[in-house]
Amino acid sequence: MVNFDYQNPTRVVFGKGTIPQAGALLKEYAASRVLLHFGGGSIKANGVYDAVKKSLAAAGIEAVELPGVQPNPRLSLVKEGIKFCRDQKLDFILAVGGGSVIDSAKAVSVGVPYGGDVWDFYTGKAIPQKALPVATVLTIAAAGSETSWSSVITNDDGGWKRPLDHQTIYPVFSILDPETTYSLPAYQTACGITDMFVHVFERYFTTVKNVDLTDRFCEAVMKTIINNARRLLENPRDYDARAEIMWCGSLAHNNLAGTGRIGDFASHMIEHELSAFNDVAHGAGLAVIVPNWMKFVYKHDIPRFVQFAVRVFGVEENFHNPEETALRGIRALRDFYTSLGMPATLSEIGVAEKDFQAIAGKIRKFDETRGTTGNFLPLTSKDVLEILKLAK
Ligand code: NZQ
Ligand code: ZN
Repeated sequence: MVNFDYQNPTRVVFGKGTIPQAGALLKEYAASRVLLHFGGGSIKANGVYDAVKKSLAAAGIEAVELPGVQPNPRLSLVKEGIKFCRDQKLDFILAVGGGSVIDSAKAVSVGVPYGGDVWDFYTGKAIPQKALPVATVLTIAAAGSETSWSSVITNDDGGWKRPLDHQTIYPVFSILDPETTYSLPAYQTACGITDMFVHVFERYFTTVKNVDLTDRFCEAVMKTIINNARRLLENPRDYDARAEIMWCGSLAHNNLAGTGRIGDFASHMIEHELSAFNDVAHGAGLAVIVPNWMKFVYKHDIPRFVQFAVRVFGVEENFHNPEETALRGIRALRDFYTSLGMPATLSEIGVAEKDFQAIAGKIRKFDETRGTTGNFLPLTSKDVLEILKLAK
C-alpha cells in the first residue's frame, strides 16, 4: 500500500423523498442568494424542479436560475455563470442534475473569486485558492461528481476536454433520491452504470502490491453494480436496485476505493477526447475503449486480470492457462456492456479511422517528459493509437 491523505467532506443525504430538505440544508450552510444551475429540461419534466423550488421558497432562499448545461458541459456557459454570479451577488450554487450540471457548477464556483481565465485551472496554469460553495441534487447515477473533487469541462474553442481535481470543489452536501432516476432513458441509465463501473475499474488496475482491503472493496462495488444493473434491465422502476446503483455511483468515485493505491485512468483520458471530438456520452465512449485497453495491456500483469475475471465475473479459473482466464474476464466485461445496450466499436459512435491520429495526439499526458498517459502501463500516443485501432 502507498501512503495517502484522504478526506471526503461531502455530506450525503440519501433516499426517497429527501429533496424537500434542500431549502433547510441550504439555510444550515448560510446560503442566502443561490444560483440554481440545471440542464436541458429533464428536471422540469420529472418534477424535481418543482420540488426544489418549493423547498427553497419554504426556507426563504432566493434563487436565480441558469439553465442550459449540455452533456459534456461547455466553458462558454461556465463563463456566463461566473459573470452572472458576480452581477447578481450570489453566494451559493445549487446544481440540480447530472455530472454535467454539477461539473459546470463547480467550474463557476472556482471562477467567481478568480481574477484570471477559469480555463487556467483546467490547463494547470493556476490552482484554485477558493470557491463559492456548491451543493447538488443528483438526478442520474453516473459520474460521481456529487461526491468527487473533479470537474470536467469542454472548451468550445478547439474542443479540448479537461479535468480539474481540487479540494475546493467537493460539494458541501448532495441530495440523492433514487426515485429521480426513474425518468432516465434506458440508454442514459446504462451510460451511467458503465461510467461508475469504470471509476472502480480504473482504481482496481494498479501496479501497487498489497492492497487487499481496497481490492476487496473495489470488487464488492463492481459486483454490486453488475447485479443491480441486471435487476434494472428487468425492471427499471425497482427502487432497491436504483438505490444500490445510486450509492455505488458515489462510492465508485469518492476516492475511498483509491486509497493506498495508484489508479490507471488512461481509458478516461482517451474517452474525454472522444466526447470532446463528437459529443458522445461519456459512458458510451468508455464502453468502447475499456475492453480494448484491457486487450492492449493484459500481458503486463496476467495475475491481476485473472483475479478480476474470477472475483468480479465469477469466471472459472484455468490453472493451466492463466491467459485464457484473463481473456475470458475481458470477454465477460464486453458482454456485460453489450447486455446494457452499450456500443462496442468506434464506428458505432461515429469516430472514423482518419480521426484516430488527431484524437491520440490530444490525450492529456500524466508525464509530460515521457509523454505518457495512465499508470498501470504508461501509454505513449502510439500506444493510444493502437488501442483506437483495436476499437475500430
Ligand atoms: O440536460 P438534462 O435535461 O438534465 O438531461 C440529462 C442529459 O441529457 C439527462 N438526465 C439527467 N438526469 C435525468 C435525465 N433525463 C431524465 N431523467 C433524469 N433523472 O441525462 C443526460 C446526461 O446527463 P449528464 O449530466 O451529462 O450525465 P452524467 O452524469 O453521466 O455526466 C457526464 C459528464 O460528467 C463527466 C463526463 O466527462 C461528462 O462530461 N465526468 C465527471 C466526473 C467528475 N466530475 O468527477 C468524472 C467522470 O469520469 C466524468 O468524466
Ligand atoms: Zn467517468
